[in-house]
Formats: sequence, structure tokens, C-alpha cells
Amino acid sequence: MARATMYFPDDFTWGTATAAYQVEGESAANDWQRWEQEPGRILNGDTAGKASGWWTDAEQDLDAAAAMGMTAHRMGLAWDRLEPEPGAFDEAAFGRYRQILTYMHTRGIEPMVTLHHFVNPLWLVAMGDFNNEAVVEQFRQFTAKVVAELGDLIPKWITINEPLVYITLRYLDGVFPAPQKSGFSAGMEALRNLLRCHAAAYHEIKQHYPDAQVGVAKQYRPMRPNNRIPGAKWWSKRLSWLFNDAWMDAMTDGQLRWPVGSGVIDGLAGSYDFVGINYYTYSLVHFPPWPGRLVNDNYPDNGLIGDGNYGELYPAGLFEAIKWALRYEKPIYITENGVPDDDDDIRPILILTHLREIWRAVSFNFPIMGYYHWSLVDNFEWERGWTQRFGLIALDPETQKRAMRTSAALYAEVCKTNSISSDMARKYAPSLLATMFPG
Ligand code: BGC
Repeated sequence: MARATMYFPDDFTWGTATAAYQVEGESAANDWQRWEQEPGRILNGDTAGKASGWWTDAEQDLDAAAAMGMTAHRMGLAWDRLEPEPGAFDEAAFGRYRQILTYMHTRGIEPMVTLHHFVNPLWLVAMGDFNNEAVVEQFRQFTAKVVAELGDLIPKWITINEPLVYITLRYLDGVFPAPQKSGFSAGMEALRNLLRCHAAAYHEIKQHYPDAQVGVAKQYRPMRPNNRIPGAKWWSKRLSWLFNDAWMDAMTDGQLRWPVGSGVIDGLAGSYDFVGINYYTYSLVHFPPWPGRLVNDNYPDNGLIGDGNYGELYPAGLFEAIKWALRYEKPIYITENGVPDDDDDIRPILILTHLREIWRAVSFNFPIMGYYHWSLVDNFEWERGWTQRFGLIALDPETQKRAMRTSAALYAEVCKTNSISSDMARKYAPSLLATMFPG
């Protein structure tokens, strides 16, 4: 077997990603905190608890990230901590984030900061959150305060994380904290307000920091019909348009399209500097559509599937996502990619095969600027609680003890050498050698 190394561009960014609620612990007055107290909401009755302990000690994992050779990390801010009552900001909470962000800079880790990642302050929920257009002004004011307090430390911003995942899980599947009204049309109303929030935040940031890079983290999911009945392909394309394209198309020309809405949102056109892709797996689309169950998770038996039937590893889907993103003609970051895999037997395969797809894209001169692996450390996995472990670092949430998974060693080699290689495949995922490095 010949030895081969695939190098990435010199300025390629290597990092990991986390979200505030999933890692911080000791959480404040927000809808997830309330939701997880309700019986039956979270698998196993799990609660976030101390989560990964970041509110008191993010530094130990950031030290580990720096030691692995990472140059970036995507983290979230908790709106509920920073603004526990409307218009009343918690200066101590801002101080803690300033400390974490400063620490990242001193460790050579560039922050990318998410403003909204699935969690709302309770006072916002009481006013109907994204089903009340007043949320737009609230989000603008929150963003303005963050810009004023922390903007000097934040070169890259994500306004909203995975808007379509958020709408689907909250308004259609009902597994995220219940909104005041649910269902499809309430979900589309919320989506329009999320777009308005994004546009307001974008301009708020750019007005003070014109060089800041602002985008969203958009999950891309290939959609495949689950049968060959006439119409199945058409339907899966329609669903793909809504899930994958609708948001990006609206951010591009400001225009709302059916079924999201109609007309134009002021300030929305062109309101992003990069495309952030979160990529995990593909979906099989039911045809004819079943109410309440649009896609299924009957992945093939011979595939590599994440814990809890999370999805099949499908690296080609990342290349598809990148090709899709090219149409928006902006730099591209992979803002999340990972797999729940407590035993860490398929994560090394995920890392090498997905980075190979990125390398292919780079070799075509596609503008891929960086990769943020989800995640740095095991964290609270929403309605799936602690049953799925995504970390390069394994965590016991009770004792807060940590252990490096083998994948952490692999990712460290990638970051430090700015490459993937046949030697890495031989060492960490021998089953891949023949397919990744033939001949
Ligand atoms: C979300 C993360 C989540 C990850 C793994 C993404 O959809 O942004 O918060 O932990 O998927 O399920």
C-alpha cells in the first residue's frame, strides 16, 4: 500500500463546536431547564445537571483543545443568563463570557460565537417567543448588548443555529420545549421571525464591527425518496427545498417563498458573510407523506450507524452539502460534524472519511475555510439526554471526570499536521485504508 498524505491549505481552520446549554450546567431560567423537569420529556429522565461544567471551568477543555493543535472553537452564549429579565442584563454573566473568550485568545483559539442555539429565556417564552414579532426587537437589543460587551473578542458569529431543525423538532415533532402554538403554520410563522431576528442581528454586529464575519449554522441533510412510487422523487425534492434551501434562499435575496411566506424581509438580502454547514447524515423521505412522520430512520443494516440509531455515516453527503453551498458564492465553514459513538469505534472513520470529502472539495478550489468537529467534550444531547456521546473527550457527568478518546489523538494529528494520511488510516481506522488510499 503506497503512503499518501492529503494536505489542507495553510490557513485552514481546525476546531470543535459546543452550545451553551449543552456544556455549561447550573442553568438559569430557560425553557430547556423547565422542559427537562417534566416527566417523560428526556430519554431516561436525564437532566443537564452540571452538563460539562463549563460555567465554572471551560478552561480545562479549552486547554485540551489547544494541546490538540486546534486554532478555533465555536461556542454559544446563553441568552437567559445574560438577560434574565427583559432589558435587565447580568454583568457578572457577561464577565464570565469575557473571561472564557479572553482565555481562548490567549490559547490561540479563535472564537466563533452562537447567539441562539435552541434555548429561550422564560420571559421570552411567556410572550410567545418566535410567534410574536416583538422577538425581533428583543433579539436585536440582546445582540446590541453582546456586541457592546464582548464584540471586541468575537471575530466570527453565528446568529441562529439550525433554524429548520429547531422548527421541526419543536413545532412538528414536539420533542423540544413546547411553543405556545404548534403545528406547521405556527412553525412557518416562527421561521419568518427567526429570519427577521437574523437580519436584525446581522446589521447590529456589522454596524459596529464591519470586519466581523457573520453567518448561520445551517444543517444540510440529503433527502432521498424511500421508494420508487411515481411522485416520491418530486416529494423528496420539495422537502429538501424546504429543509435545505428555503432559509438560505431567503437570506440571499430577502424574498419569502411558499410555504414559508410571501413578500420581502427588510435587511435580509445578502445578510451573511459565509455559509456554515452542519452535516451529520441523510434522511429517507416517506411517500406518500405520513402526517407527523415525514422521514424515517430505517438505515441499511450494513451501514455504520451512530449510537441510538442516530443516522448512517454517509461522507458523500458532505461533498453534496459543499456543492450545494457553492451556489451562494460565499466562503464555507463546516460548523458541525460528528457522530454519537461512546465506544469510539466509528468516530475515527467519520473523521477521516469526512475530511477526505473536504479535501476533495478543497482540491477543486472550493472555498472551504475550516472544520469544527462536534464535539470537543461529551455534553447534554437535548431530548436524548446523556444517551448519546459526541465528544473527542469522554465525560462522566456525575464526577466530571474526563478521558481522551482515541479520536482525540487522531484529530490532534490532523490539526498539527494540517493533513490526513494513509498512516493515520492505518493507525486509527485500518478498514479504511483500501478505500481511502487505493493502490
Ligand atoms: C445541534 C447540536 C446537537 C447535534 C447532535 C445538531 O443538530 O446543533 O446541538 O448536539 O446536532 O445531535
